[in-house]
Amino acid sequence: MTALLEVSDLSKAYPVGRRGLFRRRTMQALAGVSLSIAPGEVLGLVGESGSGKSTIGKAVLRLIEPETGSIRFDGRDLRALSTEELRAARKDMQIIFQDPYASLDPRKTVRAALAEALDTHGLHTGQRRTPRLNELVQMVGLSPQALDRRPHEFSGGQRQRIGIARALAVEPRFIVADEAVSALDVSIQAQILNLLADLRARTGISILFISHDLSVVRFISDRVMVLYLGRVMELGPADRIHFAPRHPYTAALVSAEPSLAPRQARIRLTGEIPSPMNPPSGCVFRTRCPYALPECAQAVPALRPAGEGQLTACIRDDILS
Ligand SMILES: Nc1ncnc2c1ncn2[C@@H]1O[C@H](COP(=O)(O)OP(=O)(O)OP(=O)(O)O)[C@@H](O)[C@H]1O
Ligand code: SF4
Ligand SMILES: [Mg+2]
Repeated sequence: MTALLEVSDLSKAYPVGRRGLFRRRTMQALAGVSLSIAPGEVLGLVGESGSGKSTIGKAVLRLIEPETGSIRFDGRDLRALSTEELRAARKDMQIIFQDPYASLDPRKTVRAALAEALDTHGLHTGQRRTPRLNELVQMVGLSPQALDRRPHEFSGGQRQRIGIARALAVEPRFIVADEAVSALDVSIQAQILNLLADLRARTGISILFISHDLSVVRFISDRVMVLYLGRVMELGPADRIHFAPRHPYTAALVSAEPSLAPRQARIRLTGEIPSPMNPPSGCVFRTRCPYALPECAQAVPALRPAGEGQLTACIRDDILS
């Protein structure tokens, strides 16, 4: 199937500190990340804090500028669009944040917040406005009475439903959900995940689902991409990533989950994540990898096919198979 979103070789370095004598100091948040998302697909993006997940989410929506990389949405090169074209394209691409409270204006009612989203793209004006607003809150499991309340009158889970309604208001074809359930209690997380899964099934929307929690990502995703220090470690079908990981870093993430039966050798992550300003040579995971060999320091491992439909950026195929 043709991809809805096709990203290749995305790199982003943030400037840090003061300009040095000869060159500006930077930290490499992303290095050569490629991904694609099919229509109706949920791609999960998982990795520890600082691995570059949000940077990918923001770059694909062009909220930040990457150094290199191409971003194609529905066949169009997003980096080549004019400001006006980009504004129109944004209708198709929305984002849901971790903390809807921070992104909702506390003085505005839900009705005003949703109306504002519709007005941005001139949608459902006049008499069509009220039925659309009622429909939107009902789609996310709230009653029409919610429209006349303000953000503080809702619980965290309900506020996230409002955040989702606002993203859906303009009928996007793609959403980035960045840690969208991370701030919620576990039982509420399940409700919001079920809501997103249900909306995907009903509307065929594509989702880039970002979380540091592999079990959450697995629940909702078709495929999962594992990031470490701005590089892709492994990519594959969600169940394979979870039950038969082929990269030692993925195996370590899986091992850290308390609920999982110890079917395979547990790998405990020790040591700190290296500084992205000074990442290890070769395989960036090698300073924490129990299987590291001297040759792991030589070159950055390319992604290669492994297991069933997986790609792994590890040079060893004598482990975890
Ligand atoms: N605006 C910025 N300026 C400088 N460095 C930044 C900026 N934004 C992010 N970074 C750095 O880039 C790296 C990747 O950050 P990013 O927010 O993408 O990670 P993340 O995987 O989303 O982490 P988290 O799980 O904490 O949200 C981190 O080391 C972060 O400190
Ligand atoms: S390439 Fe080497 S260091 Fe990197 S994950 Fe594989 S075994 Fe570990
Ligand atoms: Mg983040």
